[in-house]
Amino acid sequence: MNLLIGANFKMNKTNTELLEYFQTFTTEYPNTPGVDVMIAPATIGLSKAAEFIENSPIHLGAQNMFSELSGAYTGETSPLMLQDIKCEYVILGHSERRTIFGETDEMVNKKVKTALAHNIRPILCIGENLAQKEEGQTKDILRVQLEKGLAGIEDTTNIDIAYEPVWAIGTGKSATPEYAEEIHMFIREILGQQESRIIYGGSVTEATAHELISKREVNGFLIGSAALDPRRLIKIVEEATR
Ligand code: PGA
Repeated sequence: MNLLIGANFKMNKTNTELLEYFQTFTTEYPNTPGVDVMIAPATIGLSKAAEFIENSPIHLGAQNMFSELSGAYTGETSPLMLQDIKCEYVILGHSERRTIFGETDEMVNKKVKTALAHNIRPILCIGENLAQKEEGQTKDILRVQLEKGLAGIEDTTNIDIAYEPVWAIGTGKSATPEYAEEIHMFIREILGQQESRIIYGGSVTEATAHELISKREVNGFLIGSAALDPRRLIKIVEEATR
């Protein structure tokens, strides 16, 4: 299985900045074998990004998507719109979507099903917050998020899972490789198959990538702030494959 190294730009970068980013990235990235690099710009940048990365090895991802195909859903993006611009991945259930925008496991589950039905590969994000971790509830929380997020889906092999502990996102406090491995093994057990990649997210940098990826069940990363600099993202891919 290829590693999946994903960049989540969140609400950063204008289209002008995206162009600069992709110019640097596509010129300097050596197209490392065995790695799928996915970049998820903000929705408004998706179709421009699709043009910028044409003929490059970069895979395009969206940061979110709605579960309906069209209609009166102000502000939302349909899977048909993503399909139309050849967007291959969609990040679903990111903790910021859950906590700031009130997405529930049920909403995330509908989106995962719709993405699969339209051949867009979902990256389902799960993760415990600090209070839940401190109360020893991590595995219970993850089990519920996984079971509800994947409810009614018989074949989960075209889904990747991003384990992103909320306490590690944007805090500079990454999980240790040992902790990530323990949790990823737990997730693998629940999934019951080997095809999905289980990637880690939360303050991944070029300094932590190598050690984290040395764990067998860490199959890639979802990266926020460190990926906003194209050269740092290239460095992370280098560290993950050396
Ligand atoms: P971070 O974000 O790398 O800035 O911690 C990761 C994410 O939210 O996907």
